[in-house]
Amino acid sequence: MVVKKIAVLFSGSGSNLEKILENVHGKTFETCKIEVACLICNKKDAYGIQRAKKYGLDTTIVSHTDFSSRENFDRKIVNIIKDSEVDLVVLAGFMRILTPEFTKNVNAINLHPSLLPLFKGANAIINSYNSTMKVGGISVHYVSEELDGGEIIAQECFQKDGMSLEEFEEKIHNLEYKLLPKTIVDILDR
Ligand code: GRF
Repeated sequence: MVVKKIAVLFSGSGSNLEKILENVHGKTFETCKIEVACLICNKKDAYGIQRAKKYGLDTTIVSHTDFSSRENFDRKIVNIIKDSEVDLVVLAGFMRILTPEFTKNVNAINLHPSLLPLFKGANAIINSYNSTMKVGGISVHYVSEELDGGEIIAQECFQKDGMSLEEFEEKIHNLEYKLLPKTIVDILDR
């Protein structure tokens, strides 16, 4: 059985990382087994580091504050990823703007909490909640030089109806927990 390896990059809570570890890591699919072979985080106190430990996985911490430029930070991350020889890189709540040093050298997908191309950037949830749109949604897309602008791979949406902001956020996260693992498998298991 072919083993396909992924890297996951995160910055915070890591709840999406945990869903990948639960549903994808070490699991066998039709044509391959998928393993999380590399974990990178830019914040030393991120809770995702603890979540990974429960699965016996160590996270490499690369603090962006240790680098004089975005390019130098990205170069370091790309080197770690290249050394781990992964088939796919997954950005799961990795809160960094990436330069061409990263985007030109790595095949990566990103999870974004809006229906792209709408509501790019850091405040996607609140902006889409406050918009006049009747639906909210999430996207998984390839990472390109344009922030949240690469080719869209998969999306899910839902009716906002009379949801509170908390309900809206919860709905988004619950959809993310299913769509990101599914998209990883769809890309690799072929
Ligand atoms: C997710 O909502 C994702 O869409 C956004 O950051 C959040 C990450 O949450 N890019 P977590 O760290 O996986 O809990």
